Amino acid sequence: LSNLTTMENLSTEEVMALIKRAQAHKSGTAEFNLPKQTFASNLFFENSTRTHHSFHIAERKLGLDVLEFDAQASSISKGETLYDTVLTLCALGVEVCVIRSGVEHYYEELVNSENITCAIVNGGDGSGQHPSQCLLDLMTIYEEFGRFEGLKIAISGDLTHSRVAKSNMMMLKKLGAKLYFTGPAAWYSEEFDAYGHYANLDRILPELDVHMLLRVQHERHASGEVFSKESYHRQFGLTEERARLLKPTAIIMHPAPVNRDVEISDNLVESPQSRIVQQMSNGVYTRMAILEAIMQKQNEIKQEKNLKVV
Ligand code: CP
Repeated sequence: LSNLTTMENLSTEEVMALIKRAQAHKSGTAEFNLPKQTFASNLFFENSTRTHHSFHIAERKLGLDVLEFDAQASSISKGETLYDTVLTLCALGVEVCVIRSGVEHYYEELVNSENITCAIVNGGDGSGQHPSQCLLDLMTIYEEFGRFEGLKIAISGDLTHSRVAKSNMMMLKKLGAKLYFTGPAAWYSEEFDAYGHYANLDRILPELDVHMLLRVQHERHASGEVFSKESYHRQFGLTEERARLLKPTAIIMHPAPVNRDVEISDNLVESPQSRIVQQMSNGVYTRMAILEAIMQKQNEIKQEKNLKVV
């Protein structure tokens, strides 16, 4: 794992190894020792609470030196490109850049450049991918069920705009889960048929093991608010009435931030079947595992290059 950009590039074996390592960090049994001073930088061009701060905490827990990057105070404000910004940070000695951008696939020119020597970790690219969120979601599901094969999982809501949905559908299908999609038809795309079935929420709720809700992403809707909050909640949200249809063993997930009483009833966010708070905590351990795997691979690549030079 030399970079983490999209779930497309990860094998199921790599995913399981990351989950197990994240679990070891969570239980306090993981041994780790940073061999040398390593700088990481977090470049967030879209707002974030969970991803930004859990990467920061993960970096600090691993002993990395963290260079926080403020786009407003940087030369980006003078028109410097992302490429030149990352090239500069690499030249200064930064070895890992965690980047969130509204531009889909922003990472391609970075990982394809021979001169960008630092690892790139995608903290979300527009409506493209959100691999670290996917891995923490997988960890949370694995903690609950100890498997993925055969689990019935519904991903519900603003599917077309959700990078979380894209990463999760890709990897959950590979891991053997049976996927359903629910929500407004206008936010469904035929390309999702490759991963699961578009379904009626009320009909499938009693069969589900996991109900994964997505935030309605008003900022990515061209025409602003399409549904009123009440209308969305009534038609597509997890109301308290709908939640009673879930099996007692089923869990409720949401990547957050949550629009309370829109995607999910306020009273269900911290309910016994909700794993939303656990997802946030697991983000730290998952991101520790990601950073370790990436630093290990980067060191191997550097050692190989040095051997070739000798
Ligand atoms: N789930 C998630 O990506 O949250 P933030 O936007 O707060 O990072």
